[in-house]
Amino acid sequence: MNTYGDMFRVTVFGESHGKAVGAVVDGCPANLPLSEEDIQKELNRRKPGQSIYTTPRKEEDKVEILSGIFDGKTTGAPICGIVYNKGHRSKDYEKIKDLARPGHADLTYKLKYKNYDYRGGGRASGRITIGHVIGGAIAKKLLSYTFNIKIIGYTIKIGKIEGDFSYYKNPDIFENEKSLESLIENIENNPLRCPSLNAYEMEEYLKEIISQKDSVGGIVEIVALNVPIGVGNPIFNKLNGELARGLMSINAVKGVEIGVGFKAAELLGSEMNDEIYFDDSKNIKFYSNNAGGILGGISTGQPIVMRIAVKPTPSIGKKQRTINLKTFENVEIEIEGRHDPTIVPRIVPVAEAMVAITLADLMIKSGFIHPCRL
Ligand SMILES: Cc1cc2nc3c(=O)[nH]c(=O)nc-3n(C[C@H](O)[C@H](O)[C@H](O)COP(=O)(O)O)c2cc1C
Repeated sequence: MNTYGDMFRVTVFGESHGKAVGAVVDGCPANLPLSEEDIQKELNRRKPGQSIYTTPRKEEDKVEILSGIFDGKTTGAPICGIVYNKGHRSKDYEKIKDLARPGHADLTYKLKYKNYDYRGGGRASGRITIGHVIGGAIAKKLLSYTFNIKIIGYTIKIGKIEGDFSYYKNPDIFENEKSLESLIENIENNPLRCPSLNAYEMEEYLKEIISQKDSVGGIVEIVALNVPIGVGNPIFNKLNGELARGLMSINAVKGVEIGVGFKAAELLGSEMNDEIYFDDSKNIKFYSNNAGGILGGISTGQPIVMRIAVKPTPSIGKKQRTINLKTFENVEIEIEGRHDPTIVPRIVPVAEAMVAITLADLMIKSGFIHPCRL
């Protein structure tokens, strides 16, 4: 399956060292103002070479929209966004073409398909997430145009270094436009997309890991704001299940939490329950958000809070043991080429994209957004 979504459908295509990568988005309603710039600004957040903590592969990642827009607005027809690969260096992969990089998908792809484009990881490359981001940029525009929904992701942990965060316990930061703007600025100005005061400790740690030719993972938190009450389904296709499915579809994601997540197992009912009140204008409010904005599979109107565990980049320069699938020998591998020492800062826009696509699809399916035109 290369297609995600039922009514807002994103099909991603391409290989890391092939001609191009991109997405075809089918089911976006007509009359949504949309430009290449809307997509480019999201791709710029994902592209390589943003700091010493990302792969030095040189790519402009310039998007071209081939279809589905007329007079600056969507027509309801499929929107094809394409990015041509330019900076690939396939010779880096010649030496290891019969080896299975530990932690990467070489082994499973080779055994399952028997015809694997090994160059740069082919279809299993992080570069494929350009398609996710193209689909996500369109979904984000749709959600913000119709419901002023904002989706914000940031790093909260690199390896064992934890940032000082408990945003879901302090919903004010998201309710005040000014503090939200400065949060976004802090996220985007930090090379790890971590707005925490101790982000420099994460950077120091990463530099040490890089000098050891190793890699490290981390945790990204994603918050969706202004999602109306009632999105999601009560039994199957619950909002939490759908979001987890979308986030788990991203390469290198090994875990998803909603609200307090696994910590819920340790709490008492009196600690976990988010108590409810009416404010002065009789709006329904909560004293906390441990549930992460979802009750019974349905959105409560509070911020939806998700976290993903991102594994360390599999391709590392350190010597590792593996197998040669052609000669059937046990061998050692030291991976050259250009890789992200941590995937965490670059996965942030991809995670936001998967949340946006999931919400757009659910909101069209359940009648919040008209399926044909705005
Ligand atoms: C944005 C992004 C960038 C990535 N960059 C690299 C990389 O430079 N080197 C690498 O070995 N894996 C990288 N990966 C991870 C691999 O794509 C992934 O680990 C591999 O396909 C195996 O899949 P799995 O980790 O989901 O099991 C990246 C993933 C993402 C989402």
